[in-house]
Amino acid sequence: MQYNIALLKGDGIGPEITESAVKVLDRIGRKFGHAFCFAPYLIGGCAIDAVGVPLPQETVDGCLASDSVLLGAVGGPKWDHLSGEQRPEKALLGIRAALGLYTNLRPAKLFPALRGASPLRRDLVDAGFDIMIVRELTGGIYFGERGYRQGRFGEEAYDTEAYSEFEIERIGRAAFETAMKRSRRLTSVDKANVLETSRLWRKTMHRLAAEYPAVAYQDLFVDNAAMQLVRNPQQFDVIVTSNMFGDILSDEASQLTGSIGMLASASLGETTRGMYEPIHGSAPDIAGQNKANPIAMILSAAMMLRYAFGLSSEAACIEDAVDAVLAAGFRTADIIGDSGAAACSCTEMTAEILKAIG
Ligand code: IPM
Ligand code: MG
Repeated sequence: MQYNIALLKGDGIGPEITESAVKVLDRIGRKFGHAFCFAPYLIGGCAIDAVGVPLPQETVDGCLASDSVLLGAVGGPKWDHLSGEQRPEKALLGIRAALGLYTNLRPAKLFPALRGASPLRRDLVDAGFDIMIVRELTGGIYFGERGYRQGRFGEEAYDTEAYSEFEIERIGRAAFETAMKRSRRLTSVDKANVLETSRLWRKTMHRLAAEYPAVAYQDLFVDNAAMQLVRNPQQFDVIVTSNMFGDILSDEASQLTGSIGMLASASLGETTRGMYEPIHGSAPDIAGQNKANPIAMILSAAMMLRYAFGLSSEAACIEDAVDAVLAAGFRTADIIGDSGAAACSCTEMTAEILKAIG
């Protein structure tokens, strides 16, 4: 079978890590008899440099015409001076919205070999943890009304958060369905003691909870959730939360797994296409030096195989290869932890994963 994939390499380490994912997919294609065809499109800072806008229409059209989308990372200091509408990050929000990707799955799972790379005490991570963060991705404060105005103290800036019951219900359903396929525990994270949007969020989640009696449901305030994640990550199975809280908690959860360089993500909508990207950014400080950890990107490609194409054996083959390579002691600089291993480059780590795939 042939699969057409839109490839958005982006900026910083984006091109290096997408190169790794392409190599892995090519190897999987050969092993399992699939043809993965890649069509590159510009996004972010490189698009600004080439054509003057962060999200060219051609990129949106190319993604819409594809079977799925792989994205590296966008942004960097070169474009930091630009105004909000022109920044590379705007392209990321734009493509998520254009493709209708309202559900963002961010799995934070501790690979047994990386226990010593987690900043948590050994007794807290010995039992491992496997958390699925379900982040709302096309609403909330990221997309609300914003601007500058005259306020009590002179000029002020404002951003607003709005959530409709419809948006909360559809991310809620995605989360309950995700929980049903896992350990059936769901934590909804909000700030209902302060925010009106959170009160509607909580009310809607409670209505859904009544429809899913098999799921053990709890509410948690976001400040408490941030604390509980480092106190006892094992207590969580699925966490559902808003766009901004999900952004913050997924970075926190990623570090518990050893490094943000380990966390993949799947952004899903009503079609099977989706978009697959690591949760980390473009890491301009190490870009072009062959130092980046390609694992989050490679695991994102595995998620694409599973969710977009229904190729679960192929996805498991990639995940097992990553597991085996970590168990064998290979480490990029970010996940050395207490292992004492010498740092692998991005291409060396990729080569080891390719070998393990066979
Ligand atoms: C992420 C990133 C993005 C976000 C930025 C780059 C706009 O932090 O995917 O988590 O906030 O969604
Ligand atoms: Mg983020």
